[in-house]
Amino acid sequence: MLSVHLTLLLAFTAIVSAVPLEKRWGGFLGSWANHNGRPSSSYLEFGKRFPGANSNAPSCDLSQAVMPIATTALLPPAPGLSLFHVAIGRGTQNYTCDTTNSTAVPVAVGAKATLFNATCIAASSPQLLAQLPDIALQLPIPTTSSSDAGNPAYADMSGHHYFLNPTTPFFNMDTALHSYGAGSFKKTGAAAAPASAIPGPNDQGDGAVTWLKLDARDAEGQVFQEVYRLNTAGGQPPKMCTGMPAAFEVQYAAEYWLWAA
Ligand SMILES: *[C@@H]1O[C@H](CO)[C@@H](O)[C@H](O)[C@H]1NC(C)=O
Ligand SMILES: *[C@@H]1O[C@H](CO)[C@@H](O)[C@H](O)[C@H]1NC(C)=O
Ligand SMILES: *[C@@H]1O[C@H](CO)[C@@H](O)[C@H](O)[C@H]1NC(C)=O
Repeated sequence: MLSVHLTLLLAFTAIVSAVPLEKRWGGFLGSWANHNGRPSSSYLEFGKRFPGANSNAPSCDLSQAVMPIATTALLPPAPGLSLFHVAIGRGTQNYTCDTTNSTAVPVAVGAKATLFNATCIAASSPQLLAQLPDIALQLPIPTTSSSDAGNPAYADMSGHHYFLNPTTPFFNMDTALHSYGAGSFKKTGAAAAPASAIPGPNDQGDGAVTWLKLDARDAEGQVFQEVYRLNTAGGQPPKMCTGMPAAFEVQYAAEYWLWAA
């Protein structure tokens, strides 16, 4: 049986189930073992630690989940909120450049990512959770559409993250698979990613995007009240626009911690 955590990782590969599981998993482990020479054997087991996880019922104690600490403190969640969901986001950050200006710098105009449910991993295996953005960044960007509802590789897709305009991030966690809620946010806090963060796929790139705190634009109107973007990998643009097109994307992955009233 496909464990839910295995599925989380396999989902990123977007390989349909024609390929035997052992092959997909073996290939994944192989590539991961080569990545920085980090040990991979512990990942073999992690599906087994969460009996019942496939049911998607709350099968873990979220009160045990603790957010990683930022380089500069981000404000804690407001009193009365509780952790509702933790997702791994994998996608791109979007930037624009003024190509008529030789000293222009890239301007962030949004992001687009697929979100995968890592809630129980957050509760039970924080160290593993912290590595998932790095792992996800080494895997292809997921391609998702409504027809993916029946694809087992997407069983743990919890939603989509995109922008309504350059300053309004949106989390849409209502999909054909689950109804976790939705909401639009504004940035209220930021902290530089740690120096050790993965700068991009294959450890090449311009750095990891900042860690963020986002607050609901309309607290009354939505389930999610606050979202933290943590343990980022990749996503930073080059410092200058030199040689860049008018619009471009930079690959990234991150943890998103969603708090609800
Ligand atoms: C997925 O998210 C829901 C809601 O946050 C949670 O109850 C459930 O346990 C999660 N499943 C896993 C496998 O993390
Ligand atoms: C060119 O870009 C720099 C850096 O963003 C900015 O300070 C400057 O005002 C821009 N010049 C023009 C003509 O837009
Ligand atoms: C930027 O993001 C949007 C989705 O929000 C996407 O459709 C678009 O192709 C992206 N890339 C560029 C270079 O604009």
